[in-house]
Amino acid sequence: MNKSDTSISVRDALAHFKIPVFIGLVGMGGFVLGYLVQVEFYSDISPVQPIAFSHRIHVSQNEIPCMYCHAHADKTPSAGVPSVSKCMGCHKVIATDSPEIQKLYEYWKKQEPIPWIKVHDVPDFVHFPHKRHIKAGLECQQCHGPVETMDRVTRVSSLKMPWCVDCHTERQVENGRDCWTCHK
Ligand code: HEC
Ligand code: HEC
Ligand code: HEC
Ligand code: HEC
Ligand code: HEC
Repeated sequence: MNKSDTSISVRDALAHFKIPVFIGLVGMGGFVLGYLVQVEFYSDISPVQPIAFSHRIHVSQNEIPCMYCHAHADKTPSAGVPSVSKCMGCHKVIATDSPEIQKLYEYWKKQEPIPWIKVHDVPDFVHFPHKRHIKAGLECQQCHGPVETMDRVTRVSSLKMPWCVDCHTERQVENGRDCWTCHK
C-alpha cells in the first residue's frame, strides 16, 4: 500500500461521512436553536409559576367559574388574581398532602402574596379596561384562548396595537380607532 492509496481511502471515507455528519450537525444545530427559541419564547408567553396552578383542574374538572376567582373583571379595569386566602378557603381541606399545596401554606404562614408572573401585560401608556369589554358581552376566551384547558396559562394573543384596533374596527366600536381611546 503506498501513500496515495491511503490518502484516497481517507478521502473516500470522508466523502462517505461528510453528508451524514453535515446533516447531523445541521440537525443538532436546528435542535439546539429550536430549544433556545422555545425557552426564550415560552418563558415569555407561558412562564413557569411559583405554584403549579392548573386552570384545567379548577375550571374543567371542578367547574369553578372564572368569576369566582377573577371577581373584579366585570367591575374594574383589571381582572385581578385571587388572594392566598381565597385559595385557602378550599385548600385548608382539599389536597392538603400535595407538595404544591404545602408551598401555598408557606405563603399563608408568612402572610405573603404569591409572586405570580404576569402573562398578559400591556405597557403603562395603554389604557385597557376589562370591565368595558366584559360588559360588551365578549367572552374571556376571545382574548385569552381556552384557559380552561391549560395546565399552565399560555398567552395566545399578541396584545399589540393592531390586535386591539382590528377588533375595534370589526366591531365598529365608537371612537375605537382614536389614539386617545387607548392612550390617555
Ligand atoms: C373553590 C375551591 C378551590 C379554590 C378557591 C382553589 N382550589 Fe385548588 N383545587 C381545588 C380542587 C377541588 C382541586 C383538586 C383536588 C384533587 O383532585 O385532589 C384543586 C387542586 C389544586 C392543586 C393541585 C394539587 C395536587 O397536587 O393534586 C393546586 C396546586 C391548587 N389547587 C392550587 C390552588 C391555588 C394556588 C389556589 C388559589 C389561587 C386554589 N388552588 C384555589 C379547589 C380549589
Ligand atoms: C380557582 C381560581 C381560578 C379560577 C376558577 C380561574 N382562574 Fe384564572 N388564574 C388564577 C390564578 C391563581 C392565576 C395566576 C397564576 C397563573 O397564571 O396560572 C390565574 C391566571 C389567569 C390568567 C393569566 C393572568 C396573567 O398573568 O396574565 C388568565 C388570562 C386567566 N387566569 C383567565 C381565567 C379564565 C378565562 C378562567 C375561566 C375559564 C379562569 N381564569 C378561572 C385563578 C383562577
Ligand atoms: C378584549 C380582550 C379581553 C377580554 C374579553 C378579557 N381579557 Fe383579560 N386581559 C386582556 C388584556 C389586554 C390584559 C392585559 C391587561 C394589562 O396589562 O393591563 C388582560 C389581563 C388579564 C388578567 C391578568 C391580571 C390583570 O387584571 O391584568 C387576568 C387574570 C384576566 N385578564 C382574566 C380575564 C377574565 C377572567 C376574562 C373574562 C371574564 C377576561 N380576562 C376577558 C384582554 C382581555
Ligand atoms: C375581541 C375584540 C376586542 C379586542 C381584542 C380589544 N377590544 Fe377594546 N373594545 C371592544 C369592544 C366591543 C368595545 C366596546 C365596549 C362598549 O361598547 O362599551 C371596546 C372598548 C374599548 C375601550 C373603551 C372605548 C371608549 O369609548 O371608552 C377601550 C379603552 C378599549 N376597548 C381598549 C382596548 C385595548 C387597549 C385593546 C388591546 C390591548 C383592546 N381594547 C382590544 C373589543 C375589543
Ligand atoms: C384600541 C387601542 C389602541 C388605539 C386606538 C391606538 N393604540 Fe397605540 N398602542 C396600543 C397598544 C396596545 C400598544 C402597545 C403594544 C404595541 O406596541 O403594539 C400601543 C403602542 C403604541 C405606540 C408605541 C409603539 C412602540 O413600538 O413602542 C405608539 C407610538 C402608539 N401606540 C401610537 C398610537 C397612535 C398615534 C394612535 C392613533 C392613530 C394609536 N396609537 C391608537 C393600542 C392602541
